[in-house]
Amino acid sequence: MGLELDTAFVQPIEHRPMLTILEAGGIPLIDLSVLNSQNSDDPRALSGLVAEIEAACREWGFFQVINHGVPSEIRQRIGNAQKKFFYLPLEEKHKVRRDLVNPVGYYDTENTKNVRDWKEVFDFIIPDEMVIPSLGETENQELQVLRNRWPDYPPEFRQACNEYARDVEKLAFKLVELISLSLGLPKKRLNGLFKDKTVRIRLNHYPPCPSPHLALGLGRHKDSGALTVLAQDDVGGLEVKRKTDGEWIRVKPIPDAYIINVGDIIQVWSNEKYESPEHRVVVNSERERFSIPFFLNPAYYLMVKPLEELVDEQNPPKYREYNWGEFFKSRRNSNFKKLGVENLQISHFKITPQ
Ligand code: OGA
Ligand code: NI
Repeated sequence: MGLELDTAFVQPIEHRPMLTILEAGGIPLIDLSVLNSQNSDDPRALSGLVAEIEAACREWGFFQVINHGVPSEIRQRIGNAQKKFFYLPLEEKHKVRRDLVNPVGYYDTENTKNVRDWKEVFDFIIPDEMVIPSLGETENQELQVLRNRWPDYPPEFRQACNEYARDVEKLAFKLVELISLSLGLPKKRLNGLFKDKTVRIRLNHYPPCPSPHLALGLGRHKDSGALTVLAQDDVGGLEVKRKTDGEWIRVKPIPDAYIINVGDIIQVWSNEKYESPEHRVVVNSERERFSIPFFLNPAYYLMVKPLEELVDEQNPPKYREYNWGEFFKSRRNSNFKKLGVENLQISHFKITPQ
C-alpha cells in the first residue's frame, strides 16, 4: 500500500511494544469437541467445558478454541480471497473505499491520516443492509441504511466472505451459550439479547513495517461489542494485557484455532464478573500478517445493562444502562474525525459507590 513511516505513525510512548514480551503461556486453550458429540445437550457432559470457559473468561477474557466446527476449507477460501484483494492495485481497492457516511469497505492509513495503525482493512457487515443511527454532530436519533461494498475482484470474494460469516456465526452462538451457562444462567438466556443482531467482519492486512519498534499494527484497545472471534495466521503479533500484572502476552498462533475475547458488552452484562481485555497488534519488519476478526454485536436499539439475575443488594449494578447504537456512533465519530477528545468508554457508565 506504499506506506512510509512518518511521524503520524509514531505511537505515543505507552503504545510502543515493550521489550519484555513474555512468551505465550497462560492463555487458555479450550477444546470444544464435546459440543459435536451426541450428548452435547446433556448438562453433565458440558459441565467440564463450562468450568473451563468460566475460568478463562474470569481470569483472561481471552482464550483460543480448537475443534470448533468451522471447516478449515471455509477459512482457507476467505484467506485466499483476502490476499488477492489486498494485492490489487490501490485504484482498484479504492473503488470500494469507505467514506464518512458509510463505514464499510476498504480503507488504509493513507486515506484516513488520523488512523495511526500500520495496516489496511476491508469491513463488511451482516446483514448486507443494516439500519443504524446516522453519523452526525447532534444527538438526534436519525437512522441510516448501511450497505456492503463488494469488489469485483477477486470474483469469489463475496461468496467466500458470506460463507465464512455464516459458519463463524454458528461458532459465536455456541460460545454465547457456553458463556451464559458459565454465568449460572440458562443456556439460551443471552440469545434473546441478540435479536436483530449486527455482525461486523474485518479483513486485516498488516504489511511488514521498516521500524516496528516505532509503530503498532493496531494500538491498545478493548473491543466494544459483545464477543470477538478472531482468525490469525501463523505470523503472530497479537498481544493481550494480562490482568494479574499488566504484562503484554503474545497470543501464540495455533493452526486453525480461533481466538475468542469478551467485549465491553459482556463485561457490563456480567456486572464485571468478566472483563473486556486490552489487546494490541505488534508488527515486524519481515513478514506481512493477515487476520480476520468477527465482531458479534446486539441490535443498535438495545439498551445494555447488568443482567438482573446477576445483581442484588450485596452485588449492586456497576453500570448505568446505555444504548449500544449511540455508543457505537459516538466511537465512530471520534475515531473518524480525529476529534481531540477521548473515545467514549464504558467506564463513563460506571457507577461509583458512594
Ligand atoms: C481488532 C483486533 C486483532 C488482530 O480488530 O479489534 O483486535 O490480530 N484485531 O488483527
Ligand atoms: Ni480488538
